[in-house]
This record gives sequence, C-alpha cells and structure tokens, in this order.
Amino acid sequence: MASRIPQAFIDNVRSKVNIVDVIGQYTQLVKKGRQWTGSCPFHDDRHPSLFVEENKQVFNCFSCGRSGSVFSFIMEKEGYSYPEAILSLAESVDIPIDSSISANNGNQIDGTTQAIYQLHTDAQRLYQHTLLNTTSGEQALAYLHDKRQLSDDIIKEFGIGFVPDDNLLLSYAKEKNLSHEVLMASELFITNSVSGDMRDRFSGRIVWPIKTERGQVVGFSGRALDAENSIKYMNSPESPFFTKGRILYNLNRAKNVIKQTGTAMIFEGFMDVISAHMADEKVGVATMGTALTPDHIRQLSRIAKRVLLIYDSDEAGQNAARRSIELFKNNAKNIEVGVVHLPDLLDPDEVRVQRGLPVLKKALNQSILTPIEFLVNAARNGKNLSNQAQYLTFLHEVMQILYTATPVEQDIQLTRIANEFGTSKQALQAQLQQTKQSVKGQNSHQSVSQSSHVASDFSPKTSGYEFGFPVEPNRYQKISKVELAERALIMAMIKDPYTLERVKSTAGFAFVHPEYQLLMMLTEIYQRDHLGTFDIAQFMDFIQKPNLNQKIMAIDHSFGDIKVENDAVQDYLRIIMEEAPVSNRVQELKQLIEIAKQQHDDAKLVQLSTELINIKKRQH
Ligand code: UTP
Ligand code: MN
Repeated sequence: MASRIPQAFIDNVRSKVNIVDVIGQYTQLVKKGRQWTGSCPFHDDRHPSLFVEENKQVFNCFSCGRSGSVFSFIMEKEGYSYPEAILSLAESVDIPIDSSISANNGNQIDGTTQAIYQLHTDAQRLYQHTLLNTTSGEQALAYLHDKRQLSDDIIKEFGIGFVPDDNLLLSYAKEKNLSHEVLMASELFITNSVSGDMRDRFSGRIVWPIKTERGQVVGFSGRALDAENSIKYMNSPESPFFTKGRILYNLNRAKNVIKQTGTAMIFEGFMDVISAHMADEKVGVATMGTALTPDHIRQLSRIAKRVLLIYDSDEAGQNAARRSIELFKNNAKNIEVGVVHLPDLLDPDEVRVQRGLPVLKKALNQSILTPIEFLVNAARNGKNLSNQAQYLTFLHEVMQILYTATPVEQDIQLTRIANEFGTSKQALQAQLQQTKQSVKGQNSHQSVSQSSHVASDFSPKTSGYEFGFPVEPNRYQKISKVELAERALIMAMIKDPYTLERVKSTAGFAFVHPEYQLLMMLTEIYQRDHLGTFDIAQFMDFIQKPNLNQKIMAIDHSFGDIKVENDAVQDYLRIIMEEAPVSNRVQELKQLIEIAKQQHDDAKLVQLSTELINIKKRQH
C-alpha cells in the first residue's frame, strides 16, 4: 500500500496514461457503447471477456475475474511491483523521472540487490580499466583493435572490458567487506565444488556489460580470447535480476532513437548491434543468446511501429527469423516486420569487418524483405526445384504461406513463380484458392463446436449484467440482500466521512463478510489523504488487493452515483445487523450438514437441512 513515490507523481501518471491505449498494446480492443472489449490477454480467451471502461480507467475480465486500474494491469502482465508499474508507465508517456523517485522505487530494492547492482557497476569499471590501461589487458585490446576493428571510443561507449586472471574483482569485493551472500548471489564468481574457493567467473575473457532498460549493469557476456576455447561466449547465468527472456542488449541506449524513428532492429548477437551502431544505425538491440520472447516483443511494441529482423543466414538463423515473424504476428499484429537479407552468409559484424561500414549501412537499409517474401524464399532452401516432387512440395509450402497474405502480395509471388517455373498463373491461383477453402473448412468446423460449447456455459441472452459488467448468471443470483447492503454501506462510507464515523460508533455492528470489514478499515485510511474525491482506479491502487478489485468495481457500478442519505444508511445497518446472525447460522448449518453427511447421520441431516431451507425461504 505504502509507496515512496509521491502521490502527486502517481496521479500525474494516471492522468496522462489512457488505459485503453495501454491494454490496446496487448490485445485488440473494440469500442462497444461506453466500453471497450477484447480478448483477455491473461488467458486463452477466444470470445472477448475483457471490458475496459475509458471514463473510469478500469478493466475487468468477467471470465478470469482480473480487474483493476492501468497499474494493476501492468503489474500483473509484466510482473512489476507497484512502483515499477508507475515508473514504466511514466516513461511510456515521457514524464521525467528524477533520481529521487527512481533511486528507491525502481525495484523495491533491498540492501542485497543494491549491493549486487553496485558490484556490477564497479566490476564494469574495473574490467574496462584493466583492458584499456594495464599490461594484463594488452593482448585483449590488440584483438579488439586488429581483429574486431573496434576503436577505443567504441570500446568506451559500450563499456567493454577484460577480466584478468588474478581474481581482481574478488579481492575488490573482499576489501569492501561485501558479505558472502552478496558475492554468491551476484553470480560474478564461480565456487570450486571441492575446495569451496571462489574465483572471478569471467577470468581471461573480454566482457561486454549487459544493462537493463534503465541502464543498470546486471550481467556480462564474456568472449574467450583464444579460438580453441570450447565455450566461445559465456553469459551471466539466469538470476532474479538477470532474466534473458526479458533483457534486450542496448535497449537503454536505443530506446529514444527507436521512439523518434519508429523502427527497431533486432540482431542475434551484441557484436552485431555494435557494428550497426558504428554504421550509424543506432536502433539495434539483441537477445542474449536466446530466442525472442513475447516479453521482448511487448517491450519493443511500446516504442516501435516497425521492426527489422537481422538474423544470420545459416539454418539456425533462418529458423529463428521464422519463429520471430510468427511471434510478432501473434503478439503485436500492428507492428510492421521486415527481414534484412545480408550478403554471402555473413553476419552484420562480419559484413562490417570484411566489406566495410558503407556496405553494412546499405544492406541494413535496402535489403529488406517482407515476411512473405522472406518465407517464400526460405521455402526454396534445400530443394531441387527442377525435380517435380520437390517443386510440388515447394508450391504446397508457398500456398500455406500465401493464403493469409494481401491480394497484392499473393499476386506478386504467384507472378514471380509463374515466370520462373513456367507454371500458368491461373493454375497457381486455383491452387491458392483450394488452400484457402480447405483452411476455411477446418476453421469453421472448429468455430461451430466452440460456439456451442460457449453457449452452454455463458449465454448472453440469459445472463445478468451486474452493474454494467457481464457476469455468469449464477454469480449474479448469489448476491444477497445483505451483501448489497454491505456494498452500499461501503460506498456511503467512501463518500462521506460522517457515515464512516457513524458506522464505527454503532454498537455491535460488524460486516457479515470479512472482505467488507477489511474494505472499511482501508477506506478509513484512504479518506485521510483523499477527502472529497473518489476515483475508483486510484482507490483500487491504494487498496492493493487484486482479489478485491472486482468487488470494488461492482460497488462503484451500483452505488457510485447514488447520493448518501441518512435513512438509507440506517436501512443498510439494520439489514446487515439483522441478517448477520442469520447468515452466520447459515454458514454454521452448512458445516454441520457436511459433518452429518460424513457421519451418515440421516436424522440429523434432515433436521439441519430443514432449518436451512426455512431460513432461505425467509430471506426471499
Ligand atoms: P554468434 O556465435 O553468432 O556470435 O552468437 P558472434 O557475434 O558472431 O560471435 P563472434 O563474432 O565470433 O565474436 C550470437 C550470440 O549468441 C550468444 C551471444 O550473445 C552472441 O552474441 N552466444 C553465442 C552465446 O551466448 N554463447 C555462445 O557460445 C555463442
Ligand atoms: Mn560474428
């Protein structure tokens, strides 16, 4: 609940961010009346269950029950803490974050994490110093200058260093009296399993610092100097602060240029990013030796409109490109994807060193294929197309690629194939038509069975709309008179401090359902800072109990617009106090019935059930 970020800052972010835009980056939203709807991005949701209310800046999924403010959404979706969600959204709308805010809040940083971060920052400085200014770095420096064609300026700009084999960092850490716990958790050392001795993990390697989006060094990648070494690159292992599925090399530096130009370049290796940078293409990022993840794509889709994939031309690289195209299609439909084709099976770094910067620059800007072009080209690979069987296989693969393409792209590709192989274009078009039909057949079969399945558990015609949000019919009926009174009373207390005082001083009053008791306590604290105003998104953020969000929304929907009146409050109190004992008895009876069932005590079961039925009759 408590946050060290000033409330004014949070409210500023809240006012500048639109929940529809934010959620719209994760799922396609369509406007329906006052609300927006879409498939819920938290689960497999083929029929839109997600509702976003723009005027109140809240969302709700009636299928999984997740609901809340824009901050709750980002917290859940990105696994952020509350302060992290605030800062990341602040960044997304270019609200400046001064260091007093970011220093403590970026990550709820505890002492250990802080020490680990500092150790990484110090390690990077020590390693760079070793490379540039000491004799133990001489050989590595010569390699970087001569073989990799890197200048001292570039080495400094990217923070490249060298790790001597005399345990420099370990000595430094011991001098600083860092605890064993910090050394272990930092992953900057390796422990000998027999002797228990520690040594610098990257000894003898050239190291590139890996930074978070905010520029904190959280890991290294180390390249062996001699070509004989069986492990060419060694990366920091996965840890709570170094997550390869999330980190994009160079994003901290590329971010602003990507925002300005709208384009990001994705490379396979960080040396490729550096090469592109030298060729004046400063929008490059790379994954850390792993495949692209939906998380990476999300980070990029917030800042880029277009991405270029620059992958190696070997089979592994081509497969990775194919995978990434698919991933973008599924996770960021609005992003335009291009695939850069580099000459002669070279990677971008090799193009720079062997052919020169102008050739690389030109390739990055001009040899761009659409995903369709790339996939059709890739379908040729490894096939002898003068062999009829292989040609037919090729055509089959091409049709699978083309049937979702635009008519123009279909036409271009079919014309090309017709011209090259002499098959008539009509025949090719007919085959494409067949492919479309057979795929459509499969899909419509699927959707018929899906919709009949859905109709049985959720029928829009018979379902209730609980306070503007659709809910399952049985959920709707479950809300009893008591609970409605509890909800109304909570809203009255939120709006009116006198009602809160009155409830508190009513002898013998207690809510029947404990969550409303909790809400009352939290409301009291909320009121101290937010008297006179009630903003539901802000209230939910203050409460910080995701499982209460749906209740809070329901309360707001049914009672948010009703004025507080003394008589009504009196009624709510009476209903709750009168019914409370009854409700308690209902709970008790249900438990006793369970016990009676287990003990096969039929006489008791009949007696208890009769009492329960009678109470329920009286309630309605
Ligand atoms: P490459 O082997 O293509 O890297 O791996 P590269 O940049 O061409 O290597 P050089 O030019 O010989 O120095 C691409 C990326 O995969 C990761 C690294 O992040 C590298 O940048 N990788 C590669 C590893 O993590 N471990 C390895 O052993 C190799
Ligand atoms: Mn290379």
